[in-house]
Amino acid sequence: MANPEIDAVNQDFNRFDQVEKNHTYRLAESQADEFDAEYEIQTFDIGRYLHGNEADRQKFAEEFGTAVQEIGFSVLVGHDVDTSIYDEMNDRVEELFTTTAMQDKMRFRAARQGSVSQGYFPIKETSDIHPDLVEGWVWCRRAFDMPQQRSAPFRPEDFWPDEKYESIFRRLTTAHEALFKPVTQAMFQGLGCDPHLYDEKLTQTNFGLRLNYYPPLGEADNASGAGRLLGHEDVDLFTILPAPRVGGLQVWNHLNNKWVRLIAPPGSIIINTGDYMQRISNDRLPSTTHRVGKPLDGSHIDIPRISFPMAVYVWEDEILEVLPGLGEPHYEPIKAITFHTRSTSKFYGDDYAVESPPAGN
Ligand SMILES: [Fe+2]
Repeated sequence: MANPEIDAVNQDFNRFDQVEKNHTYRLAESQADEFDAEYEIQTFDIGRYLHGNEADRQKFAEEFGTAVQEIGFSVLVGHDVDTSIYDEMNDRVEELFTTTAMQDKMRFRAARQGSVSQGYFPIKETSDIHPDLVEGWVWCRRAFDMPQQRSAPFRPEDFWPDEKYESIFRRLTTAHEALFKPVTQAMFQGLGCDPHLYDEKLTQTNFGLRLNYYPPLGEADNASGAGRLLGHEDVDLFTILPAPRVGGLQVWNHLNNKWVRLIAPPGSIIINTGDYMQRISNDRLPSTTHRVGKPLDGSHIDIPRISFPMAVYVWEDEILEVLPGLGEPHYEPIKAITFHTRSTSKFYGDDYAVESPPAGN
């Protein structure tokens, strides 16, 4: 593992960026950071888009689209996901991390499959560039018994320390999959584009479910200056994050270079756009920086924090190209795996990037 620097800033690593990011921020929370208590990340009822008439849908797309174009984040209610799934997830994620033997976790140590590094990430090893005080686990579509192209029968033992977790976590991935197209359609409609441009790409598309288990912090780690999760932008179309029970999520407000503490109501979903979306929207939908710091209530000393964000991807061979109607493209078309792995080699090392031959070769 490389030498993670507690004081590092994002611009130390800007050679990996595949979309424009001009701001400078420290990866971990610092005394020098400024917080913005005024900015309100807006909440919308997506039921208006899922079940409304054409006028309801257009109004939702404009309002939601405008909010996300401004800050890259919003909160959704009325999403039709059975929120008992979130309660079950909280319990089972804690159980998975606290009862699975370390040797069983390490059998599934994260490695790249396609674009995404999948498997178990030990504490302080989520990335090479910062010692995040979190344990993580990532599964993509192939780890679930869901409809998909397979060359061989599904073998849960290839992915799961105990296959009961596959069926429990599949309730979440299946419920969230129903939102992939409507959320994308609303974003595209909000940009004035054809809402259905990605319908085909999003049919049985890839995703990454990441579980985060932030253990209570011991004295040494609490005093170290390391963050719970470093400042970063998501490398995906967008992320679906059920509101975590414990605070700590901070969102960069590019309008004033301050951090906004985001606490969403129980049962709601936080949506944020990622690098893929910034690229295809010609910088209209920003990939907004966020991180996890210590919660204001001091609970990081006593209780764990659990979150289970789900990243929405397109498959590796798809081409990411600026959508038609959004002006002179700021970017060349690029194969998704190249775009994704060039970006995330920031976290995993230069040899992570998968280059593809130029078009026509
Ligand atoms: Fe993130």
